[in-house]
Amino acid sequence: MKGIILAGGKGTRLYPMTKAVSKQLLPIYDKPLIYYPLSILMLASIREILVISTPKDIDDYKTLLGDGSKLGLKIEYAVQKEARGLADAFIIGEKFIGKDNVCLILGDNVFYGQNMTGVLEEAMSHKKGAVIFGYPVKDASSFGVVEFDENGKVLSIEEKPKSPKSNFAVPGLYFYDNKVVEIAKSIKPSSRGEIEITAVNNVYLKNNELYVTTMGRGMTWLDTGTPEGMLQASEFVQTIQDRQGFYISCIEEIAWRRGFITSEQLLELGAELKNTEYGKYLVSLVK
Ligand code: G1P
Repeated sequence: MKGIILAGGKGTRLYPMTKAVSKQLLPIYDKPLIYYPLSILMLASIREILVISTPKDIDDYKTLLGDGSKLGLKIEYAVQKEARGLADAFIIGEKFIGKDNVCLILGDNVFYGQNMTGVLEEAMSHKKGAVIFGYPVKDASSFGVVEFDENGKVLSIEEKPKSPKSNFAVPGLYFYDNKVVEIAKSIKPSSRGEIEITAVNNVYLKNNELYVTTMGRGMTWLDTGTPEGMLQASEFVQTIQDRQGFYISCIEEIAWRRGFITSEQLLELGAELKNTEYGKYLVSLVK
């Protein structure tokens, strides 16, 4: 399984914060936003990762994450010249994906929950078709929305409907078999000029190959698309970390716990950040 993080877009809803800096590099409390989705791929034991961003921003991601080897990963980079839609990731990433299945995660999605690894393993156990999620939100109108019948069968998926048919939003975490590349190529741009991920999911739905797993209230999925959302996510992370003493989406810790890197390598990463609580935390893990 390969992983793609889509970190493009102009982030206009966050102007002026994102006028000079890519949105997914902005902090959520103590780490760049992109660490959060990256940590989810790592929890899924996906180690070959493609980061897609704009021509202007791609070098900043290279500066931040390098070739991934310090985390025991292999990170590649590609540019998306224009915001052509989420499904464009599979066209841009065609060579990278090769013959594998692929997980797409949006660079601004934050997930946190007790059973995250179990949720990921279950999703990856489907070797064919697509697995997406449904997450209850108060107002689903700014997301993809799944409608279920009384037996939990999926009836429809709509992109940003004015009157959502349910309160289940589709988070930006998607698992696909290799057919997704050809499906993405067949999608026509929507009225907003984008090849929509929802259109891809509808092809899988039509072919009876779409699995939707609902995430319960014990799972946290946060939106960071607005200043309020960013502040709420920062406060959430700070609250949990301060209370438990465990860091959320600490990519260095995950790399170490998963055995991608050794204790010596973790200590080196800690030493690089030694002036921060973050660095001290990394060192404390080994001791
Ligand atoms: C995108 C998808 C939408 C999904 C959302 C999750 O929306 O189009 O279906 O629910 O991500 O973050 P956008 O980021 O384009 O607003």
